[in-house]
Amino acid sequence: MKGIVFTELMDLVEETQSPAFLQEAIDDADLPSGGAYTSVGTYPVCEMGALVQALSQKMTVPVPDLMKIFGKHLFGRFAQIYPQFFEESSDAFSFLASIEDHIHKEVLKLYPDAELPTFEVTTHTEDTFIMIYNSSRHLGDVCEGLMIGCLAYFGEDASISRKVLEDDAVSRIEFTIVKD
Ligand code: HEM
Repeated sequence: MKGIVFTELMDLVEETQSPAFLQEAIDDADLPSGGAYTSVGTYPVCEMGALVQALSQKMTVPVPDLMKIFGKHLFGRFAQIYPQFFEESSDAFSFLASIEDHIHKEVLKLYPDAELPTFEVTTHTEDTFIMIYNSSRHLGDVCEGLMIGCLAYFGEDASISRKVLEDDAVSRIEFTIVKD
């Protein structure tokens, strides 16, 4: 997992809690890297799991809820850091439809060792969007948070539901987004 994901998570905790709170969570998580990440480095995804688990215990907020909050925040940060990816889409569904063939492809040019999920869009109408998430990193909650952030960015109200298609070595989740 690219360091940018870790540094954004730590910035969010520092801002919403405090630097001391973050340090305690890093100590609790007993991370092999000691919590010293650079945005271009690459680190094991299990460190993110351990850090979020430690945060969850300290904050008494369930891990999936924290992952979603983080995903939503991360989308807002992506919009600030990579404005060029936002030039071609004028609504949330077309933005989401462009991740697989455009956005994550550009991400791979920036970070050739990025480990990205794959997506299949099966329905894309005016009010309904269905997309299947595939990844061995099991970050469906971060994915849902990113979708929530995307809808918020475009100012659209919609409900997201999910169906687990596979939860083994690979996680396959079908997300259905219906406009309110
Ligand atoms: C401008 C928008 C976006 C940018 C720049 C971006 C970039 C990235 C980057 C840098 C990573 C980390 C890769 C690694 O750690 O090796 C990542 C992972 C990921 N992205 Fe995107 N992304 C964007 C939008 C989205 C959206 C809207 C979704 C949800 C539909 C999404 C789903 C994911 C997921 C779930 C991961 C975690 C890796 C995994 O599950 O396998 N991304 N993305």
